[in-house]
Amino acid sequence: MSERSPLHNARFAYTPKMPEIFSSPVSAIRAVPTEIIEPKYDKESLREIFTHSYGKPAVKFTSGDNKFASNPLTVGVLLSGGPAPGGHNVIAGLFDGLKRGSAESRLIGFKGGPGGLVDAKFVEITAELVDSYRNTGGFDMVGSGRTKIETPEQFEKALSNAMNHKLDALVIVGGDDSNTNAALLAEYFASRGASIAVVGVPKTIDGDLKNEWIEASFGFDTATKTYSELIGNICRDAPSGRKYWHFIRVMGRSASHIALECALQTRPNVALISEEVEARKMSLSQIVDIIASSVAARAAKGENFGVVIIPEGLIEFVPEMKSLIAGINELLAHESDAFKALSSTDAQIAFISERLSAESAALFDSLPRDISAQLCWDRDPHGNVQVSRIETEKLLVSMVREKLAKLAAKGDYKGKFDYQTHFMGYEGRCAFPTNFDADYCYSLGFTAYLLALYGFSGYIASIRNLAAPAREWIPGGIPLVSMMNIEHRHGSDKPVIRKALVELDGKPFRHFAERRDKWALSSDYRLPGSIQYFGPPAVTDMPSLIIQIERS
Ligand code: FBP
Repeated sequence: MSERSPLHNARFAYTPKMPEIFSSPVSAIRAVPTEIIEPKYDKESLREIFTHSYGKPAVKFTSGDNKFASNPLTVGVLLSGGPAPGGHNVIAGLFDGLKRGSAESRLIGFKGGPGGLVDAKFVEITAELVDSYRNTGGFDMVGSGRTKIETPEQFEKALSNAMNHKLDALVIVGGDDSNTNAALLAEYFASRGASIAVVGVPKTIDGDLKNEWIEASFGFDTATKTYSELIGNICRDAPSGRKYWHFIRVMGRSASHIALECALQTRPNVALISEEVEARKMSLSQIVDIIASSVAARAAKGENFGVVIIPEGLIEFVPEMKSLIAGINELLAHESDAFKALSSTDAQIAFISERLSAESAALFDSLPRDISAQLCWDRDPHGNVQVSRIETEKLLVSMVREKLAKLAAKGDYKGKFDYQTHFMGYEGRCAFPTNFDADYCYSLGFTAYLLALYGFSGYIASIRNLAAPAREWIPGGIPLVSMMNIEHRHGSDKPVIRKALVELDGKPFRHFAERRDKWALSSDYRLPGSIQYFGPPAVTDMPSLIIQIERS
């Protein structure tokens, strides 16, 4: 390994903070089933699909005898989907839990995500391996992947590989789609009489695996603090240079949690929230009007600069774009062979355009060619449009420029519009986890170990009360099926974990909405600065503003 930075070395020595109950010996931690949790939607269909997993209780941990404590276990772990800071600490917490229970316990890491389980690619996780990744970012200890286990052959291979290793449990670290896969695997293993517990861990920088029991997915804290530092720096550059409008698109897929958190952290002039765009049925031209009017109002004060935050999934929420994307999705799902056989991008664009409804085709044809091409690029294995590859910020810049030219022609705008575009996503996914994420992930890993030890299958590790100090966090397990509903994906109805989008009647959005008109005209940006790992807890350990506002 190359020479490590001083911070890299220093992070190895960090001891993650945990919920108080986890400081007891494993022999004194008891898992107690509590109330049955049923899904909120599509109960009957889910009951039929998940005959073995439906209607299970939540689990909490209390002090009490644990007769399984010293059972040696063999557990498999895999990381799924995009990286999120803290993944290595989930493995560390799981590994340390296993070894605290019994020195004979073993942890097998499946390489490259779910594909590693199907194709039997694995590595034995040793103390030495874990020690060289503690409290550091990335998913490279075992790698990750987006393979979806969906065919009968894949399920069968996953089971036979798990049995070859004599696994007692399999821990799947992933977002909503990967935890959906965990629920399906748990059901399949149970239907085949295999007593291998499948346990999920909530990961994703997007923050959209969230509900009553999952207050945050891990990685969101570090990723948003990384982007907010950079956006804050741009906010300082804007009034220093006084010549650019910065259009900054941030990751997050369909959900705008990242955009909202970054907006709360930095107070930009405009922050678009996709969920609001959808609720208010705003067209692209209305969105452009919002930005153009902030540009014009600031120009009237002599301030030809500003900052706009755009969630990467925005265009999926603009009604006319939403029906266009749905039309393209159907075409790609049903005519993918003919589409893929075409040799040029122009031929592919024409193929799609000819088959869309008249309205969608008119919109599709009016878009800049690059954007049309990006809309046709491959869906991910779960059927999602790869929104990280659609340059919405550039589309908006060109539309705002046109709008400003019209305003100028009428004498309603006298200013100079110059711009820079940015996309922030990959920069934040492998950062050294914040203390919050390091603590949270280690605790999630330990929780997953306890759920595995007690044989709870089809559960996700849950830790609540995250606004409080770590010792007051409340760990437990929640049945995955209780978070599911039926959705139309990739051309057919499927059981999936419900994505959590920004709630417009929630406190964080209202906090933002009450202040944004003032921020539109102000240059008094908030500068969060860089993540601090050492220092007073008020600087190093605070959770996201969304969590703080939600729990205030
Ligand atoms: P997950 O949903 O797997 O956690 O991925 C999050 C994410 O970073 C999204 O914000 C982004 O749209 C996507 O991954 C990018 O995917 P890829 O890594 O395949 O380019």
